[in-house]
Amino acid sequence: MHGILSSFALLALALTPAVHGHASANPPVGVPAKSMVTSIRIPHGCNKTATNWVSVAIPADVTSVKPQQIPGWTIVLTTRPLNPPVISDGIEVNTTTDTVTWQNGTLQDGYFMDFGLSVRMPAGPDGTVVAFETRQLCENGEGYNWTGTGAPKVTLMKNGTLLKMEDFEFATKAPMAAGTGAGTSNSAAPSMTWYSSAAAAAFVAAGSALALL
Ligand SMILES: *[C@@H]1O[C@H](CO)[C@@H](O)[C@H](O)[C@H]1NC(C)=O
Ligand SMILES: *[C@@H]1O[C@H](CO)[C@@H](O)[C@H](O)[C@H]1NC(C)=O
Ligand SMILES: *[C@@H]1O[C@H](CO)[C@@H](O)[C@H](O)[C@H]1NC(C)=O
Ligand SMILES: *[C@@H]1O[C@H](CO)[C@@H](O)[C@H](O)[C@H]1NC(C)=O
Ligand SMILES: *[C@@H]1O[C@H](CO)[C@@H](O)[C@H](O)[C@H]1NC(C)=O
Repeated sequence: MHGILSSFALLALALTPAVHGHASANPPVGVPAKSMVTSIRIPHGCNKTATNWVSVAIPADVTSVKPQQIPGWTIVLTTRPLNPPVISDGIEVNTTTDTVTWQNGTLQDGYFMDFGLSVRMPAGPDGTVVAFETRQLCENGEGYNWTGTGAPKVTLMKNGTLLKMEDFEFATKAPMAAGTGAGTSNSAAPSMTWYSSAAAAAFVAAGSALALL
């Protein structure tokens, strides 16, 4: 059942203009245990409505997080304990960034925006996938949870390149159908209707079907 849905969604993606893309990390490749700058790309709003809130969860073992300042957006950081603490420049550091949120800005539906992060990648063998789970909210109260296999991803490679062009395509565009389930209400903000990436796939599929009529 899932496989059928996935194929359908991927077909729908192929038939739909780029406006319906997935949130992705750009570039999608990093070197293990090295610093890099990558950006979380938000490709569209919600049902033609502008995005005004983007929150990225920093994965375990990703440290030295510095978010890109973007004019018109306010950055809010939360931290989590670092256990054991690390010594950085002779100072003990016992917390690390947990989430980076850009809010109070406006990203119109017909445009994309890259939300940049300077980070230090964890160590790991080639092919290790580091997922940056991202949540997006729009002015109409709808949103997307780009989580699970739908999360933007950076793949670690010692030589900084992907194996094959197909892998690059996969890392950039792939996780279309693998959402976390659509439409459950968010207990923290009961008035909001949440659209997961699975709902986005269904929305795209519906749009494509209409476009083919
Ligand atoms: C999209 O917006 C239109 C117009 O505001 C509304 O009629 C429609 O129900 C919305 N669709 C979704 C999926 O929210
Ligand atoms: C973290 O470090 C700060 C200052 O360096 C200190 O005041 C605080 O108690 C430490 N917290 C823990 C949980 O170790
Ligand atoms: C900024 O965004 C937050 C989160 O969406 C919201 O709660 C707050 O009211 C906004 N502040 C202003 C001044 O718009
Ligand atoms: C990068 O490393 C992988 C093995 O991890 C190798 O297959 C690939 O050819 C290398 N790419 C380049 C450009 O050296
Ligand atoms: C989206 O994520 C938030 C925060 O984790 C959660 O409360 C909400 O239920 C999620 N929505 C869906 C549809 O998974």
